[in-house]
Amino acid sequence: MSHEHRGASASDEISVNPLFARHSETTIPRWKIPDGEMLPETAYQLIHDELFLDGNARQNLATFVTTWMEPEAIQLYTEAFDKNMIDKDEYPQTAAIEDRCVHMLADLWNAPDSHATIGTSAVGSSEACMLAGLAFKRRWQIARRAEGKPTQSPNIVFSSAVQVVWEKFANYWEVEPRYVPVTREQPYLTPEGMLAAVDENTIGVVAILGVTYNGVYEPVQQLGAALDDLASRGGPDVPLHVDAASGGFIAPFLDADLEWDFRVGRVHSISASGHKFGLVYPGLGWIVWARRDYLPEELIFKVSYLGGDMPTLALNFSRPGAQVLLQYYNFLRLGREGYRRVMQASKNAARHLASELSKMPAFEVLTDGSDMPLVTWTTDDRPRHWDLHDLSAKLRERGWQVPAYPMPANLENLTVMRVVFRNGVSLDLTRLLLDDIAAAVRFLDALTAPPPRKEAHALRFHH
Ligand SMILES: Cc1ncc(COP(=O)(O)O)c(C=O)c1O
Repeated sequence: MSHEHRGASASDEISVNPLFARHSETTIPRWKIPDGEMLPETAYQLIHDELFLDGNARQNLATFVTTWMEPEAIQLYTEAFDKNMIDKDEYPQTAAIEDRCVHMLADLWNAPDSHATIGTSAVGSSEACMLAGLAFKRRWQIARRAEGKPTQSPNIVFSSAVQVVWEKFANYWEVEPRYVPVTREQPYLTPEGMLAAVDENTIGVVAILGVTYNGVYEPVQQLGAALDDLASRGGPDVPLHVDAASGGFIAPFLDADLEWDFRVGRVHSISASGHKFGLVYPGLGWIVWARRDYLPEELIFKVSYLGGDMPTLALNFSRPGAQVLLQYYNFLRLGREGYRRVMQASKNAARHLASELSKMPAFEVLTDGSDMPLVTWTTDDRPRHWDLHDLSAKLRERGWQVPAYPMPANLENLTVMRVVFRNGVSLDLTRLLLDDIAAAVRFLDALTAPPPRKEAHALRFHH
């Protein structure tokens, strides 16, 4: 990583408050490991104080990731943060609990036989998606080789609204990404768009349950039916992966009848973020394959476990096991009904924001929280001196972090603002936010010229 700060703040030294400093510690180097030691209290205080400059997690309406857990979960976390997930032999019960969680998820996602499934935890959805893509690629290569066909031009199909992880997957594993452009009327992957992009070199199609830009659920069932039809007409037999980073922990509880999961036969694998709507602190993703043979054997490694072998697959070797235990904690603590109530509360808050925003003349609500609890809106066409980036900056004065960003390719001229209703973004908080949005709009509407724009406005928001 390059040095992120330049100018005055890039001084090569950090000053130590005299109250905590010993004689030699009035400053410490910023970019080098200090030569000597310091007291633990001083080191703690320095870092603790610097972190005050981070945003307030409660008002971060940009993130999907869990920012609060119960005290009992934190107690469990502190008891378990030394557990290394890869040491299955040393921590057999943590390994057993991971396996239990995989099968609970397989069951939640309606696998025809949850015991025939295989899966793993990961550091997040990104790692899980990479594993899904790798399984697709290897399976396609094996099948092509068996038919004596070339394997040098694999491609993968998804909508232009995929999260950056899919761009990374295609780049890192040298697979051609085929982006199907979204439109304003259909801001998701359509069966027609998908079929136009698929050919015999397609290793798989990715459908998203809860598009990062707008929260929309892509029509998995229709995509699966279109691929079934293609195969039945003698076309390529292309599998589906569902990137359910957010939706995997929402749809089963709020839209149980929506067929987006293993009930759709084409769906080989599903990934989700435990650290988003799974309600666990950052560092946890999941992937499940409906059948063991969907994951080529050669991608599975063995580690020792209770004197025998246990299969593992993950990009990293060592990683924390505590998050897996926190996921299990939530499954036990909340049960299906608890998850449903949490998700419903988020949805109610989202629907309230959408409904109140739609009454404000400046805005057009684009997605109203009907799929995942996420609301996006844009401004109407009337001329004004401000845009959504100005509104975002104005709200930041009150501590709110509400991103404004352009939609993906084909819709990049459309700038939207987004609020993610993760657990804790309550109806009360939403009412306070609405008051602040109304006040900010009154202020901005009164301007007689555009406000000076900070360079930061031009920075791209990362999803
Ligand atoms: C649809 C989708 N896929 C993948 C990811 C990446 O997830 P993670 O941050 O868990 O790696 C995200 C994150 O927002 C997402 O929204």
